[in-house]
Amino acid sequence: MTGTGNERARKTAEGLAYSSGFGNEHSSEAVTGALPVGRNSPQRAPLGLYAEQLSGSAFTEPRAHNRRTWLYRVRPSAAHPAFTRVDNGALRGAPFTETAPDPNRLRWNPLPAPAAPTDFLAGLWTLGGNGDATQRTGMAIHLYHANTSMDRRVFSDADGELLIVPEHGGLLIRTELGLLRAEPGHVALVPRGVRFRVDLLDATARGYVCENYGQPFQLPDLGPIGANGLANARDFLAPTAAYEDEEGPYEVVNKFCGNLWKATYDHSPLDVVAWHGNHVPYVYDLRRFNVIGSISYDHPDPSIFTVLTSPSDTPGLAGVDFVVFAPRWLVGEDTFRPPYFHRNVMSEYMGLVEGAYDAKAEGFVPGGGSLHNMMSAHGPDRETFDRASAAELKPQKIDDGLAFMFETRWPVTLTGQAAGAGHLQSGYDGVWQGLERHFRP
Ligand SMILES: [Fe+2]
Repeated sequence: MTGTGNERARKTAEGLAYSSGFGNEHSSEAVTGALPVGRNSPQRAPLGLYAEQLSGSAFTEPRAHNRRTWLYRVRPSAAHPAFTRVDNGALRGAPFTETAPDPNRLRWNPLPAPAAPTDFLAGLWTLGGNGDATQRTGMAIHLYHANTSMDRRVFSDADGELLIVPEHGGLLIRTELGLLRAEPGHVALVPRGVRFRVDLLDATARGYVCENYGQPFQLPDLGPIGANGLANARDFLAPTAAYEDEEGPYEVVNKFCGNLWKATYDHSPLDVVAWHGNHVPYVYDLRRFNVIGSISYDHPDPSIFTVLTSPSDTPGLAGVDFVVFAPRWLVGEDTFRPPYFHRNVMSEYMGLVEGAYDAKAEGFVPGGGSLHNMMSAHGPDRETFDRASAAELKPQKIDDGLAFMFETRWPVTLTGQAAGAGHLQSGYDGVWQGLERHFRP
C-alpha cells in the first residue's frame, strides 16, 4: 500500500466506535432500522436485507458457552461459486507432521521482511503447533510480516479463531461485523468463520498469531481474586456495524482443515448492514491488564497473568492460554524476583511486543520468539540470575517491556520452515552456560 493508502486507513481507524464487554450480546446497525426488532428472521428482513445466522458453537451447547451472531446483509453468504484449492504459501495446519517434536530450547529472530508486495494473508508464516484442525483440538503459532494491504480480497478461517498480536505497525481489520484498530500493544480476536481483511496503518506490519482450534478463548475464572481483575471484560471492544457495498470481483480465501481455498465473488462479502450476537471480534489493549502478583514473597506462577484461556474437557487444563507480562511492580521480600527455573508439562512459546523481558538479558528481541516444549528446562540466564540474586530488594517497577506467552497443553511440533529457518538462532543453550555451582557443603 502507498503512504497515501496508509494515511487513509489511519484516518478511518481514528474515528471508530466500539461496543464494549467480552462475551456480551452486542448489537449494531449501520443504517437505522436495519436490525429487526423482536425476532431474528422475519418474513421479510428490514430494508430488503437477508437474515443469516453464524453459529460459533453447536446449537445445543450450554447457554454460557453458546455463541452465534445474526447477520443482516446485502447478499446471503450462500451466493458464491465453488471454492478451489490454492497454494498454502507459508501457512500450515494441524496435524503437524513435517518434523519430529523437538525437546530442545529454541529461539528465533524476527521473521525477515518480504521482498515482494505481501499482504497480511500472504505474510502468514507458520512456526508450528499441535492437535488436529479436523478434530477442533490444539493450536498453531503463526508469525506475519506484511508490506501491503489486502486489496479486494478477504480471509476467513474455518479451522479456528485467530488471536492477532501486532508487534510492529498498526492494523485496520475490516471484519463482517465492522472495523477494529489493532496497534502494537493491542490484541485482536477474530472468531472462527468471520471474514475479514487487513489494511496496514504503517508501511509494514509484523506480529504473531495464535490460531486456536479448540474451545473459543474466554476470560479465566477469578476464584479468590474476586469479581474484578486481570483482563476486565469491559475493556474488550467489539466493532460496530460497517458494510461495504462494492460490486466486482472479490477474492475470498477460506482456510479449511489446514488448506487454503479460494472463490471469486462478484461483490464484497463484507456487506453486513446490521447484526446482533456474541460470536464477535474484539480488540483489547494489553496495557489495560490489571496485573496481580505477590505482595509478600515468591514469584507467583505465571497463570496469574492469563488474559484469555481456551479450556479443554479437563477442568483447569487449557488447550492454550494467552498470558501477558505487562508493566508491574515487584515487591517480594526475600524473593528471587525474575521467573524461576522451570520444567513444565505445558509447552511455552514466548514473544516480545516491545522492550525487554525480565528473565533474559539479551537475545530475546521484539518480533522474535522462544519455544520451551514440554519438560524442557528453562529460566533466567546467567546474567539475570547473578543480578537478581544480589539485588537490593526495594520495590522495583518492571516497565520496559511487553512480553507474552502462548502456553499449550501439547508439545509444539515445528514446521519444516521453522526448523530450518535462517532466523532460528544457534547456541540458545549457551544462555544457561556458566551457571556455576555455588553449593559448598
Ligand atoms: Fe516456564
